[in-house]
Amino acid sequence: MASPAAVSAVAVALALLVASADAWLHEEFDTEGNVRAGYDARGQQVASIVLDRQSGGAFRSRRSYLYGQFSVQIKLVPGNSAGTVASFYLSSGDGPRHDEIDMEFMGNSTGQPVALNTNVWANGDGKKEQQFYLWFDPAADYHTYTIIWNAKNVIFKVDDLFLRCFTRHADLPYPGAKPMAVHATLWDGSYWATQRGKVKVDWTTAPFVASYRGYSADACVPAGAGRPLACPAGTGRWMRRRPSAAERGTVAWAKKNYMRYNYCDDGWRFPKGFPAECSRG
Ligand SMILES: *[C@@H]1O[C@H](CO)[C@@H](O)[C@H](O)[C@H]1NC(C)=O
Repeated sequence: MASPAAVSAVAVALALLVASADAWLHEEFDTEGNVRAGYDARGQQVASIVLDRQSGGAFRSRRSYLYGQFSVQIKLVPGNSAGTVASFYLSSGDGPRHDEIDMEFMGNSTGQPVALNTNVWANGDGKKEQQFYLWFDPAADYHTYTIIWNAKNVIFKVDDLFLRCFTRHADLPYPGAKPMAVHATLWDGSYWATQRGKVKVDWTTAPFVASYRGYSADACVPAGAGRPLACPAGTGRWMRRRPSAAERGTVAWAKKNYMRYNYCDDGWRFPKGFPAECSRG
């Protein structure tokens, strides 16, 4: 019979094996500010971004991608998260003509609903927000958030459901030319996030923690100016992905039951007429 010491040595070795197989944070990302890497009970790596009065945190992929399917599980800040914003997004960088695809979770007071802001920026134009309440408490457990980005559309997915689909129209701006890196952040968005900036972060309940696990990027890397993309095997699953009739149905369901804000309904913001995609399919 193995001694307890030997058994626990095996257990430790196994835990290390499991851990290293899933150590996505430092393999893929550079971190900034308060980001901690740990493991959950099943040996999955968990990246926790911590926001306190001094600092928030972020991680950013070292590689940039042109099209892909990006997915992560997030457990949001529990309790009073008013004023905080946790995010998972793609960006081509700063600058006035940048591209970006955003999922941002706008915190709220205890018991009040968190809103998921989705947005698409093309050439520096990012007035395309749609916000949704979620049909579950996103701080109670992990849920999977996915961005599918290809040459035809940008799809935002929550767990297995399509939430929003931003379609490319040949004559309208679309994020299709600039490689983007993957980012996750937790920051103080008091000026914007909760009830239009009326509710600020309550620092007496800090630090705030958002946890990320199970990251995956099934994505193409540009092989150089004018040269073809280097895409991973299985790209077909998402490169031509467009919503099916059933998936269009879940988009309509979310719009009808959970939409909080739609730029295409915001006449105050677009006094000279809505962006052209608002009146197309
Ligand atoms: C926060 O809760 C209030 C009250 O329920 C609600 O009106 C608001 O839309 C919620 N979300 C945000 C991000 O403010």
